Amino acid sequence: MRKYFPYFLKYKKALWFAPLLVVVDVICEIVQPELMSKIVDQGVKQKSLHYIFQTGGIMVGLSIVAIAANIGNIYYSSHASVGFAAELRKGLFNKIQEFSFSNLDKFSSSSLTTRITNDVNILQEVIMMSLRLLIRAPLMLLFAVIIAVRINAGLASVIAVAIPVLAISIYIILRRGLPFFEMMQKKLDKVNAVIQENLVNVRVVKSFVREDFEMKKFGASNDELREIAIKASGMVVLIMPVMQLVMNISIVAIVWFGGNKIISGTFQVGQLMSFITYITQILMSLMMLSMTIMTFSRAQASSERILEVLNTEVDIADSAIAIEKNIPVKKGKVIFENVFFKYHPDSPEFVLKDINLTIQSGETIAIIGATGSAKSTLVELIPRLYDVTKGRITVDDTDVRDYTLQNLRSGISLVLQQNELFSGTIKQNLKWGKPNASDDEIINAAKDAQAHDFIMSFPKQYETVLGQSGVNVSGGQKQRLCIARAILRKPSILILDDSTSAIDTATESRIRTSVSSHLHGTTIIIIAQRISSIQSANKIIVLDDGAIIGNGTHDELIKTNAVYQEIYYSQELKEPAAL
Ligand SMILES: Nc1ncnc2c1ncn2[C@@H]1O[C@H](COP(=O)(O)OP(=O)(O)OP(=O)(O)O)[C@@H](O)[C@H]1O
Ligand SMILES: [Mg+2]
Repeated sequence: MRKYFPYFLKYKKALWFAPLLVVVDVICEIVQPELMSKIVDQGVKQKSLHYIFQTGGIMVGLSIVAIAANIGNIYYSSHASVGFAAELRKGLFNKIQEFSFSNLDKFSSSSLTTRITNDVNILQEVIMMSLRLLIRAPLMLLFAVIIAVRINAGLASVIAVAIPVLAISIYIILRRGLPFFEMMQKKLDKVNAVIQENLVNVRVVKSFVREDFEMKKFGASNDELREIAIKASGMVVLIMPVMQLVMNISIVAIVWFGGNKIISGTFQVGQLMSFITYITQILMSLMMLSMTIMTFSRAQASSERILEVLNTEVDIADSAIAIEKNIPVKKGKVIFENVFFKYHPDSPEFVLKDINLTIQSGETIAIIGATGSAKSTLVELIPRLYDVTKGRITVDDTDVRDYTLQNLRSGISLVLQQNELFSGTIKQNLKWGKPNASDDEIINAAKDAQAHDFIMSFPKQYETVLGQSGVNVSGGQKQRLCIARAILRKPSILILDDSTSAIDTATESRIRTSVSSHLHGTTIIIIAQRISSIQSANKIIVLDDGAIIGNGTHDELIKTNAVYQEIYYSQELKEPAAL
């Protein structure tokens, strides 16, 4: 609960006012039956119109105050709950921005979306309900019991029987119903996951003509949710008839005992009337309480899911040394020293094994190796998308962990293997990594990435609006835009992870030439599948199953490295014997 305090801070006033107004409302309401009984027992009996008007006037006045208090309560409780939800959504969103890659590996994006939207909404409802009912119900219950006992302690013994009977029945019903509510939340999560995954991959679904399969999958999880929801509400609807039954039996008992007392002259009609009203209020309050408890337990599951995100320890953050040093990346010299890495601490094997590698500033090095040989993993360690498990990586002779993430990552542009664009114009997308870039800089970067010509062929040129994920450009065009976005930042280290896979060899070679001539002094690391893409690199690293098994120029490797030879000849379509 303490974790949520900061999100309430702005709404402290509302948090005080809402319950205060509930107290006013309850007081005004609770005296109404008492006044009513006075009108009947005194005003009507003594035929005093004056008394009836006076007391009636007070009743109307109190009702008006109660209505005003109620409106005020609704205003403040919605203000607080809606505001809290907005702050919490913001908090969750910001937290996710801080997440490291390994943090992100733990949550699916659909689950994060459900948490930020649906789960927060459930908490919002609970807070709204708490501010309206949580104080009202027990307060009403307390006052009504006190007054009922004061009117007639003997008759009030009916309550002493009715309350436990009702409380026990509600308890039994809720106990059986609550597990269903928890299950309901989980099923809802599953439905959301199916929807979201389907929407993200809707093009794949269509191209594989798997709509039927997807519909069945959705239907199945939707049905599961329905079944559980029906069971859960089936339990809850039981509360209503049970309450009605207890209430009616109590009223009959009160009328019976009360009637006898009236006949014997020790009780009055008005008193009996108000007594019945108080009994009704008591039982209603109990029901309100049970509803609140139910909503609370439903929210418990949502709250846990939200706290799981908020409590996630961000494993990659700025160290104290980094903040104190606050140095930028200048030259771009990279050294791997006995680096070992695995994604999960408990997985038996390392993904990268004893990597030792020196990349001088301004050098262009290439990494080649079979799929799954950990090429992407290796480069992702440089900007600390993941942290090494053992060993260390230095940039300009400083451990990467001694840079602030801001400084380290602004010095490095990484074009990821799976890169995305945002919805917006081409210009906005290119400027995204460097908001203050001038038009000339943007055009030059686009020219270097061989993107300028196709951008100019669009009617709106740099103002062309890209759809979500940039669906209206081709795969190769998208890759070139991503490269342009990366080089616009003029990084000290540029890493291209298989970023030219969808670009023809001639264009790729032009990109290489213009990038290396314009980004003078930038260290360039290229991962590529085609040997033709990397042949001219100063140094080529051959990775095999997470270990470096070759390090040299093309001419050296082609003579000495069996894996390199194999890749080379398979691409050249030549037999090794032809060497
Ligand atoms: N986020 C992750 N969590 C756990 N394991 C991962 C993760 N990413 C990659 N791996 C595993 O690490 C190994 C190396 O993967 P990596 O992506 O670095 O290979 P790669 O050489 O870049 O392959 P490709 O040429 O297909 O891009 C693979 O066995 C892969 O299954
Ligand atoms: Mg890869």
